[in-house]
Amino acid sequence: MNQDELKALVGRAAIEYVPEGSIIGVGTGSTVNCFIDALADVKRRIRGAVSSSNASTERLKRHGIAVLEAADVVAQGARLPVYIDGADEIDGRGCMVKGGGAALTREKIVADLAERFVCIADASKRVDVLGRFPLPVEVIPMAAAQVAKRFEAIGGQALLRAGVVTDNGNAILDVRGLAIADPLAMETEINQWPGVVTVGIFARHRASVCLLGTPEGVQTLNFA
Ligand code: A5P
Repeated sequence: MNQDELKALVGRAAIEYVPEGSIIGVGTGSTVNCFIDALADVKRRIRGAVSSSNASTERLKRHGIAVLEAADVVAQGARLPVYIDGADEIDGRGCMVKGGGAALTREKIVADLAERFVCIADASKRVDVLGRFPLPVEVIPMAAAQVAKRFEAIGGQALLRAGVVTDNGNAILDVRGLAIADPLAMETEINQWPGVVTVGIFARHRASVCLLGTPEGVQTLNFA
């Protein structure tokens, strides 16, 4: 099976995690696109979705799936039972690096509304230590150089992602050279830097479950 087939496999497998009559959170990326396409077949089972990007919103709507505003869900005092999204990397505790598609801020916002995060990924995303994939960081454009300097001081090389403006009107830095041994501590530290909107470490919002696509089939990783 090639990588696209593995993504399709876990996209379909995630349907099992969609509760009847619920509003669910939907992530962004090529793996989630497979999930959205599979969701279209059972769309009458759900009340709708809160989306993490303009791209996913468009795809959901094209399939006739209702897209709800996060603010309305909050106003109703509701929680999403599940948030389903991909990852650029996932470690043995369910901590992730995300943001390869520049949607990390809205992804973290929607993940925060959900009871649990179900990560769908092909086996190439499973790592022992996060940091091989350049860490995406959404920054206020004015602060990009300043934040890049701070990364330099901790051994990272930050590069502005050329030609990319996020759905929130900001810039993305991709940071190479970091070994993220303590994801929670690093997420907490970088979150404090002025001008950082969101760092692509998902440790506070780590996965509860990962459906990993392997040549032998879907491997389910449960994280305590
Ligand atoms: C989007 O910003 C990302 O966080 C994606 O979830 C991540 O890049 C995984 O994308 P793929 O499913 O396309 O690999």
